[in-house]
Formats: sequence, structure tokens, C-alpha cells
Amino acid sequence: MTRRLTGFQPTGHLHLGNLIGAMRPLVRAQEGNGTTDSIAMIADLHALTVEHDPVRLRANTLQVATVLLAAGVDPQRTALIANSQVPEHTELHYLLECATGFGEAARMIQFKEKSGLSEGSGAASRHNGAVRLSLLTYPVLMAADILVHDSDQVPVGDDQSQHLELARSIATRFNGRYGDTFTVPQAIRPESAARIMDLADPTRKMSKSSPSAAGRIGLLDSPDVIRRVISRAVTDTVGIVRDDPVGQPGVTNLLAILHACSDREPGRFTSYGALKREVTDAVEALLTPIRTRYAELSEDPGHVRKILAEGRSWVRPRAAATVRRTRAALGLLD
Ligand code: ADP
Ligand code: TRP
Repeated sequence: MTRRLTGFQPTGHLHLGNLIGAMRPLVRAQEGNGTTDSIAMIADLHALTVEHDPVRLRANTLQVATVLLAAGVDPQRTALIANSQVPEHTELHYLLECATGFGEAARMIQFKEKSGLSEGSGAASRHNGAVRLSLLTYPVLMAADILVHDSDQVPVGDDQSQHLELARSIATRFNGRYGDTFTVPQAIRPESAARIMDLADPTRKMSKSSPSAAGRIGLLDSPDVIRRVISRAVTDTVGIVRDDPVGQPGVTNLLAILHACSDREPGRFTSYGALKREVTDAVEALLTPIRTRYAELSEDPGHVRKILAEGRSWVRPRAAATVRRTRAALGLLD
């Protein structure tokens, strides 16, 4: 049995790239005749590493949990948890901090970018007061998220691969120094065909953090918004509908979306307009049931909270066993 942990930040709104690259594989793994045991984790503790609004955080965490359920995550087969609700994550976080070098954390690219420390010393002193210490240590919390569940596989995009590497080296070093304690996780990457690009700038991936929403299809966007975003998608002047990632990235992305959404080979298209209409229909067909289910589920937020509480009860005994092992290896009394 392979254990796979998929993490979602409760920031911004989940988009078509997240659905195809992360959520759908999670749902498919549920059907894979019991060979993969999945955990879907909302990293709400990570949202505290930068300036945040408590009311929005609570709403976003519930929203991400609800979208995951609406997209087919079955809480009977996939444990759905928020990392803040499983206290073993934070306990292991501290223990792993004691096995991590300051320099290892400080050289994380995302830390340097988000703290402004990569912009030179002037920017650093301007930003430093506002930079939370947790921004520095967050990759260690991410390592705890992964290691506490003995995860074998972690799907990550490029921006998270350095953090996953850190988790692997912490685990390997700890095992070497204190005895076999952790499963060393593998990164798994979404197949490149599943990489959905920004519709307004098809050379970048569709992302919650891109500056403009013009190229993003939100999973809860209305049909009007979706139609508009697709109709304005950047193409080219070649005028032929074909796969050509280098010369025609926009058209190639539209074909990839069509293929990913409809699971069948697209027919021939005589115009970009016709292609965009077909893509709009395919995206709509995929998202309408999710939106409908989301609306039903959000009428009862208590139900979603209960599912999160059940997820916590499910994973806690296992997580507690990892923490016990770690404490013993470090020489703490039980
Ligand atoms: P974002 O870049 O929008 O913040 P995350 O980094 O939170 O997305 O990614 C969450 C999950 O969604 C990851 O497993 C990642 O591989 C997947 N994912 C994100 N963007 C895309 C995309 N454009 N195409 C395919 N998968 C994606
Ligand atoms: N850091 C990840 C992100 O920014 C979210 C995350 C937190 C995560 N803990 C994780 C992802 C554990 C995978 C595994 O997207």
C-alpha cells in the first residue's frame, strides 16, 4: 500500500489546473483497487506565515474542504484533514526544527522571495519587521506534514520541489543519526500533459498566485466568466489548430484543456473560435456538477466540519505513533 499526501494551501481560489493536476489524480487513486492510501491535507497553518485575515482564513479553509468534496474526494476512502487540527503536525514540527540547520531553511528560494531577502540588504531591512519567523520555519512544518503520516509519495509542482527535497534530507539525516524513524518520501510530478497553462499568458502555468485572474478558470466561476476568459484566451496569428507548444503555446494549451476535460481526442477545428467554443463546452460540462454539489454542500458547513473531524480521528493514531517514535529516538521520556 502506497501512502500519498496531497497538500492544498487555503489561499485564493482553486482553479482548473489544481483540479486536473492534483484533485483528479486524488479522486482516481480512490478507484485504484486499494493500492494507494491518500490523505488530502489543507495546509491552513501555512496561511499564518504571511499577513492574513482570520475571518477569510476560516472561510477559505472550509471552502477548499468543500470544493475537494464537491470534486469527488470521498471521505470514506481519502482522509480529509486540515493540518491545524492534527496537533501531531506541530509537535513533530518542533522536533524536526531541532534536526534542521538555520542555513538549510534560510536558503529556501520561496523564503527569500516572500521575505524580500533576495532583493538586497536595503529591501531586507525594510521588510524584516513584517516577516514572520514562521515563514522561515514553514518548510520544516511542511516536512512534518509529510513525515508524520509516513507518506511515500507527495505530488508537488516545481515551486515546492525544493521544500520536498528538504523534507527528504531531514528524514534521511535523522534516520542516519538517531536510527530508522521516518519513511523518506518521493516527489511525484503531475504528467506534463496535465500541466494547464495561463490562458492570458500560455508560457506560465495557471496559478492562484499569478497577478491577474484573466488567464485563470476558477472552479466556482460562473459560466459567464468562464466563457469570457476562454473567449479572450491568447492564441496566435498562424490560423491552424494544432499541437505546437513552442510556436503556438496558446492553441496547444486549449487543446490540452479540451483533452483533459473531455477525455477524448478532439476532432479537427477550422477556426480558433470553433476550438474555443468546444473548450468552453467541455469545461462547463466538467465544472457544472462540481458547482452544483458545492452549492448543496455549502448549505451545511457543519457537515463539512464533521468530515474534517472524522479525518482527524482517522489519521491521529498513526501520526501519534510517528511522534512517539521520534521522541524516543531523540531521548525524550515517554
Ligand atoms: P498554485 O500555483 O495555484 O498556488 P499550488 O502550488 O497550491 O497551486 O498547487 C496545488 C496542486 O495543484 C499541486 O499538486 C500542483 O501540482 C497542482 N497544480 C497547480 N497548478 C497547476 C496547473 N496549472 N496545472 C496542473 N496542475 C497544477
Ligand atoms: N507548501 C505547499 C504549497 O505552498 C503546501 C503544503 C504544505 C504541502 N504542506 C504540504 C504540500 C505537504 C504537500 C505536502 O503549496
